Amino acid sequence: MDGNGRWAIQRGLPRLAGHRAGTENLRRIITACVEFGVRYLTIYAFSTENWGRPREEVQGLMRILEDVIDRELAELHREGVQLRHIGRLERLDPKVQEKVLQAIELTKDNQRLVLNVAFNYGGRDEIICAIQRIIRDGIPADRVDTGLVSRYLFTAGVPDPDLIIRTSGELRVSNFLIWQTAYSEWYITQTFWPDFDKEEFKKALDTYARRDRRYGGLTQPVEETDA
Ligand code: IPE
Ligand code: MG
Repeated sequence: MDGNGRWAIQRGLPRLAGHRAGTENLRRIITACVEFGVRYLTIYAFSTENWGRPREEVQGLMRILEDVIDRELAELHREGVQLRHIGRLERLDPKVQEKVLQAIELTKDNQRLVLNVAFNYGGRDEIICAIQRIIRDGIPADRVDTGLVSRYLFTAGVPDPDLIIRTSGELRVSNFLIWQTAYSEWYITQTFWPDFDKEEFKKALDTYARRDRRYGGLTQPVEETDA
């Protein structure tokens, strides 16, 4: 969800106003996911590197997470959204941690859309965490394979993403789902996240639908028939 800061600066607003606007947009995109039948949505809300931003901005982002849970949880639950978290909760305010855990517990049986919130998330951190747990569990080296590693990641049980959308035109991965996106399709748009609306989301999905996913193989040739 990139470009909140630039969106705000363009309007002569503080960066945090951009993050707020981005959150309002997220609400619209969640509704669109439910409407379009998207079953899993993972949002990159706060990275392990975002701690390096100025204190006020970090605190503002924490506040936004808390406010969103307070304001939106009941409605998300009604819509059948199951909330999950990926990343580390440890460094967050205990009160916010408690809210996140309660939201996960409340919505755990919902099936319409799994909303995976990457907050204090880093792909490398996730892999390190998985390796540590694999070693602690005493898994023999020859049992470590793709499936096992996947089950040790924060995303265990969630399918690898089909499509990654990055707004605001940046052409980099930024430590997002680096294991899981091995064969994901990418969609990059110049649009800043607060302006990435349902129409553009639809366009991204339509573009995805026309991709030829080969996973390193070859496209199946069209069967020749006698007719
Ligand atoms: C949102 O956009 C991403 C978050 C870390 C919340 P940015 O804050 O990166 O916005 P730009 O890139 O400065 O425009
Ligand atoms: Mg950015």
